Amino acid sequence: MSEDLWSLHAPIDPDLSLPQAATGSVTVIIPTFNEAGNIIELLRRLGDALPDPEQLPCTVLFVDDSTDDTPAVIEKAAADHPFPVSVLHRETAEGGLGGAVVAGLARADTDWIVVMDADLQHPPHLVPELVGEGERTGADLVVASRYTSGGSRAGLAGGYRIAVSRGATWLAKGLFPRALRGISDPMSGFFAMRRSAVTAGALAPLGYKILLELAVRCRPAKVAEVPFVFQDRYCGESKSTAREGMRFLAHLASLRSATPLARLAGFGLIGLSGFVPNLAALWLLTRGGMHYLPAEIVANQAGVLWNFLLIETLLFRDRRRHRHWADRIGRFGLLANADLLLRIPLIALFVARFGMEVLPATALALATTFVLRFAATESLVYLPRTSRRAGRHTRS
Ligand code: GDD
Ligand code: MN
Repeated sequence: MSEDLWSLHAPIDPDLSLPQAATGSVTVIIPTFNEAGNIIELLRRLGDALPDPEQLPCTVLFVDDSTDDTPAVIEKAAADHPFPVSVLHRETAEGGLGGAVVAGLARADTDWIVVMDADLQHPPHLVPELVGEGERTGADLVVASRYTSGGSRAGLAGGYRIAVSRGATWLAKGLFPRALRGISDPMSGFFAMRRSAVTAGALAPLGYKILLELAVRCRPAKVAEVPFVFQDRYCGESKSTAREGMRFLAHLASLRSATPLARLAGFGLIGLSGFVPNLAALWLLTRGGMHYLPAEIVANQAGVLWNFLLIETLLFRDRRRHRHWADRIGRFGLLANADLLLRIPLIALFVARFGMEVLPATALALATTFVLRFAATESLVYLPRTSRRAGRHTRS
């Protein structure tokens, strides 16, 4: 709820444009979650790496969600640091690592933003090089890449993590070939971006992949890369978990379904996948001796629940706040079953009149009604109730 920004050295006031925002000024944003053991070494190496403030004014901004004493350690270490260092501590870690970076972006008022991890897996000496490469080439985004010649993933522990990272890169590039053109390492968390190319309002990050979010939603006009060797973690442990993998998939889905046509396609695919629980339940129930018509009604609920869960997590994740979940599932269930009301006579017609088997008749009837259902679901379940009453509902 409350964000508390305490500043060391020069204060960063979000309401003031920084007077020293000269050309080439840089804010280094460092998200931290329980990284107390890395701070002193990180600031020491950053101090060595960053050039003379006359040449390139730099500010270090930690965005911290720690439950340990990381903020206090930063405060202490910052006292004899040659650059302004501040900490934005968040009480709730909304959006995880990505949310922290966006909170930092909102505070930053320099020409360049550099995002890097606190655990020294990202070599601090590359910070000036990233910005320099951007100035030289006119790029809006400069990515430190493990997968361009001269780079390596040396510090990525174990074959499993390497395979996952490679698979995730491949998946992201396959889903966003245009937005990620020229980015060999979209999973990298180390990059420089021009502040003017960031439209922070458009960002809805979810978990770790903030570069992916920025590249896809802000579409920087020109991209450059600098190779880097991913180092071993200096101290502590990775905060990434299996749950982060699920968040990554949900993040990809929400980025991919940002247009109505893509949402319709997603709705169709999810609807298709719902055939499986629906038909499986129908098979079980008719096997168990139930007449196929009541069995259709019961089996439909399995498909409805399945679809609801997938649609909630993959398709309309950003739009759930307009209604309470009980309201959403109620409306969703009503629509889906109203659809069944239409479908039952259709199925009966296929079976009784045209002599079709129950399963193909059901599949055909399901397929005929989905566009209607999509339109109704989007407008009746997930759109804001009214566009005028801004007071009670935040608009997306
Ligand atoms: N503020 C905040 N909130 N910081 C966080 C959170 C959070 O919820 N979760 C993690 N961090 C910080 C960590 O403290 C660290 O500074 C940085 O984000 C990266 O976290 P790690 O836990 O070290 O991530 P990793 O090493 O598994 O992942 C790294 O490699 C990936 C590519 O393989 C990161 O660089 C990722 O950004 C990168 O995608
Ligand atoms: Mn790390």
